[in-house]
Amino acid sequence: NKGARRPARVPEQAIAKVGVIGAGFMGAGIAYVAAKAGIEVVLVDQTQAAADKGKAHSASLMEGLVKKGRAKPDEAEALLARIQATPDYAALADADLVIEAVFEDRDVKAEVSRRVAEVLKPQAIFASNTSTLPITSLAEAFPDASRFVGIHFFSPVDKMMLTEVILGKETGDQALAVALDFVRAIKKTPIVVNDTRGFFANRCVLRYMTEAYDMLVEGVPPVMIENAAKFAGMPVGPLALNDETAVDLSQKIMKATIRDMGEGSIDPRHFALVNEMVDEEGRLGRKAGKGFYDYPAKPAKKHI
Ligand code: NAI
Repeated sequence: NKGARRPARVPEQAIAKVGVIGAGFMGAGIAYVAAKAGIEVVLVDQTQAAADKGKAHSASLMEGLVKKGRAKPDEAEALLARIQATPDYAALADADLVIEAVFEDRDVKAEVSRRVAEVLKPQAIFASNTSTLPITSLAEAFPDASRFVGIHFFSPVDKMMLTEVILGKETGDQALAVALDFVRAIKKTPIVVNDTRGFFANRCVLRYMTEAYDMLVEGVPPVMIENAAKFAGMPVGPLALNDETAVDLSQKIMKATIRDMGEGSIDPRHFALVNEMVDEEGRLGRKAGKGFYDYPAKPAKKHI
């Protein structure tokens, strides 16, 4: 693994401005952690409203910290002032690093790469937050693959410390150094991984969830699986974790795996289980209020 260490000959990179494209679930979180570290952020989405919604995530996290006395109101204000929310790609022109977190769709990402390449300054680095698409193949849509790297965050971005830096075949030393320096600047722990399916963490998580699926189809009650996992010291049981990451995402990944690697690549009992949950029962996970578990909406707080 050529990237086990930071390339020593590349001087430390000060990253003053970061672009984040896609102000959804992940992009909004990435914008927050960067702004929290004092970095200027340009947060781009398709519309002003979508970009603003992403920025509102930072406002709400800071509001929570202020309420708990862990941040001052002027710190919250300063953090928000560092985030420019816009639908205009031209605002990325002076960014040192741009990270895309748009839909997990090869064509959408390729289109975004082309648009970014038109405005990015020559030495800047472009990164993808993809969780499943190979970095080497995504880099093909960007004119200079040596400046393309994977920076893979985990949700919730403000809480999860691990960040994977993924090397494509052509990723250069400068891109690796910028990615590592950025991850350290936002006070997360980077690990450098090769461009393999699931990278590192998702390979482990997948095995964790797959074993739970096995137990479930063997008839073990979900609550026993979860309790056993908790007693074994895992912070979240495998089925509750799958509810967090979304059951329809599992279905999507299984479909893509079957398409790419053939019928035998996924246990048909697991595929049948997610198909039933998603297509017939709308059990998409926590976001839908039900997945392996039910998540009844909390009653609205009364203002006295
Ligand atoms: P999301 O659907 O919440 O957000 C995607 C955002 O991209 C949307 O706001 C959408 O309007 C915007 N977008 C789409 N096309 C665009 C374009 N051409 N220009 C600008 N903005 C555009 O998706 P989510 O969950 O945030 O995922 C984003 C990426 O992060 C995906 O590649 C996903 O695989 C990856 N990822 C997701 C994780 C998760 O737990 N959801 C974890 C780690 C990575």
